[in-house]
Amino acid sequence: MNLLEQMTSTSTDLQGKDLLSWLNYSQADVSQLLAQAQYLKENPHSSFLAGKTLAMIFEKSSTRTRVSFEAGMVQMGGHALYLNTKDIQIGRGESISDTAQVLSGYVDAIMFRTTSHEKLQELAEHASVPVINGLCDVYHPCQALADVFTILEQKGRLHGLKIVYVGDGNNVAHSLMIISAMMGMEVVVATPEGYEPAPDVVAQAEKLALQYEGSVTISHDPHKAAEGADVIYTDVWASMGQEEEQEERRKAFQGFQVNQSVMNQAKDDAMFLHCLPAHREEEVTAEVIDGPQSYVFQQAENRMHVQKAILQALIGYR
Ligand code: CP
Ligand code: NVA
Repeated sequence: MNLLEQMTSTSTDLQGKDLLSWLNYSQADVSQLLAQAQYLKENPHSSFLAGKTLAMIFEKSSTRTRVSFEAGMVQMGGHALYLNTKDIQIGRGESISDTAQVLSGYVDAIMFRTTSHEKLQELAEHASVPVINGLCDVYHPCQALADVFTILEQKGRLHGLKIVYVGDGNNVAHSLMIISAMMGMEVVVATPEGYEPAPDVVAQAEKLALQYEGSVTISHDPHKAAEGADVIYTDVWASMGQEEEQEERRKAFQGFQVNQSVMNQAKDDAMFLHCLPAHREEEVTAEVIDGPQSYVFQQAENRMHVQKAILQALIGYR
């Protein structure tokens, strides 16, 4: 397939689709997005989305998601609007469904960062343009695509690699499990008791692992989990909205810090990844995150490249 055909097929296959999680995407869809992201990384400026507008609704803070989506739209000739729920009428009680229908009349896609997956589903149900999950309480799919893109970039493959997530079984862990299982990776998630990923997400990831020759294991022993790993991943112990649980979580997560001793269990060339923002000396030591095995800033940059591929595919190539 030549490049033009590849770009055209990317748009025809996924055009108009929402991206709430990777669950209604296939391995072929993800592979195609990864290939297109690589092309867009090498050829950043284009007019693929000339005249197109992305609305970005934020109910929570963001640095990477906000800036990478906005810069990505500009690089493709389009425009992005930052809408904080405190400033738009949602903050004064206008319904999600009315907002979805109104915005669909103005823009070509809507990105939503929200406290609840149900709100995201409601927005997607009532919007006639693609809706992209920019993080919710259950998933963070754009992050997961950047994660596997970064691994592929360094390792040259995904299938058969061992990825170990140490920490909270949260939104980032959920999306990482799903996409890694879908790409045929061996996924191990090591959490304290009571902080495991949601059982329905684990079940979905196991189903994908079966289909794509991957595996999913839940562990409570980070050192054992890390043995022979190609990638070690962690995220904050208290996510946005869990500030009140911070102290309790700090206690519960003792022993789940990614430090040099955990990294030493992994392969010599293992990568360290973190979605960021990070809390040094909590979930990860400065020695690891600022050390030679860390790819966190490449990973953050890659958010933009993969999201451009997502935008191009869902909005459509013209
Ligand atoms: N990783 C991530 O989504 O970062 P932001 O919260 O800064 O967008
Ligand atoms: N789990 C974190 C990810 C931040 C990008 C949160 O939800 O706050």
